[in-house]
Amino acid sequence: MSLITINGAKKLKGSVRLQGAKNSVLPILAGTVLIKGISVIHNCPALSDATAAIKILRHLGATVSCEGHTVTVDSREITAFDIPDELMREMRSSIFFLGAISARMGRAVLSSPGGCELGPRPIDLHLSALNELGLTIDEGGGVLNCSCPNGYTGADINLSFPSVGATENIILAAVTAKGVTRINGAAKEPEISDLADFLNSAGANIHGAGSDTVIINGVGSLSGATHTVIPDRIEAATYLAAVAATGGKIELLNVIPAHLAPVLTVLKQSGCEINVSGKSIVLTATARPKRVPVIRTLPYPGFPTDAGSPLMAMFTLADGSTMFVENIFENRYKVVDELKRFGAKIYTNGRVAVVEGVKSLSGATVQCTDLRGGAALVVAALAANGTSEIGKISHIDRGYEGLIENLALLGADIKRC
Ligand code: EPZ
Repeated sequence: MSLITINGAKKLKGSVRLQGAKNSVLPILAGTVLIKGISVIHNCPALSDATAAIKILRHLGATVSCEGHTVTVDSREITAFDIPDELMREMRSSIFFLGAISARMGRAVLSSPGGCELGPRPIDLHLSALNELGLTIDEGGGVLNCSCPNGYTGADINLSFPSVGATENIILAAVTAKGVTRINGAAKEPEISDLADFLNSAGANIHGAGSDTVIINGVGSLSGATHTVIPDRIEAATYLAAVAATGGKIELLNVIPAHLAPVLTVLKQSGCEINVSGKSIVLTATARPKRVPVIRTLPYPGFPTDAGSPLMAMFTLADGSTMFVENIFENRYKVVDELKRFGAKIYTNGRVAVVEGVKSLSGATVQCTDLRGGAALVVAALAANGTSEIGKISHIDRGYEGLIENLALLGADIKRC
């Protein structure tokens, strides 16, 4: 099992060009299943989650070729409607293939996505919405055996929670449904808008993506499209948190600042200097972070849950206590015990975590608990005095392309071994 070793307490300086958004490219790749044509997706990040999605496409019968950050999907021939258990286990969020496969094939068989590091990842909102659109679902023995032999029929769907994945699944199922589908209470994340932009360029008729009401007018078929994936806002937040923790200066290139506005607000409150122009963000950190009283994670456009862990690592060094309130995932604080190994002082109670800033952290041997928790451990190790070793870094490879290489170029003493 490979490790990351870091000799910390070095200021970081330089620029990083962001990867394409992991949480955008995954539903977009699923969306190619709906298309009887050839689609070209640019700015695809080289991530293990993206590789898992490509494996699923190939299993379904698509021909997929990758050249640099461009993935070409020929989905004229889709012959299968199942996702093998091992592929489902590789990526829990494969559940949003359900809407696309069932819409194309009239059937879909996949295993119930297990829980993940963040807690039980229920899919009740996905299944009840797809059922309202016409999917019959037989759940037994951990397998979802689904069918809609006559295709989907548009309906009014009311989401009790703005689930990102459920919103994406409904859109993917409704794009070629008969009639109109209206999603009330939809998730508003930028990745939803990116998916809609891709599908509309393939001939779909989707309005309101990015708002809490999305209207999908079903169309007969979709044709191949070309699309460039939006930049990854969580990757952006991670690099900013790293420099805020170590001190230094970073320029992020190819970023959409509006996508991480709440994160920039918190970083400014912590004393960082932030300059935004066009698709660039420059952050300068010259002093110890100031505490921020409360950081609440919320659905977009609120503070993103995925940025909570990397910023928590940064606030372990603040000049006072910062309270995090996690409103999205139950087990977001699994990383806390690992952060404490660096000497961090963090007290959790349910969804509340109080981070009492300390003057310095010390290198430690830790293990990743989940993707963003792994990013938090890297941030802490970069700021810590001494050497750290981080294990189970396959979690990090799921969501960060070239993290080690980029940090080394910023001046970090970091190696994968
Ligand atoms: C997406 O997960 C992202 N993953 C997550 O990013 C992100 O944290 C999350 O949205 C929130 O923004 C991808 O896009 C691949 P949800 P998703 O459905 O769709 C509950 C990362 O690190 N819920 O919005 O699974 C659920 O338990 C990952 O990049 C139900 O109760 O998130 C959770 O508490 C982590 N029933 C909350 O809603 C359902 O049917 C948010 O889930 C679905 C969800």
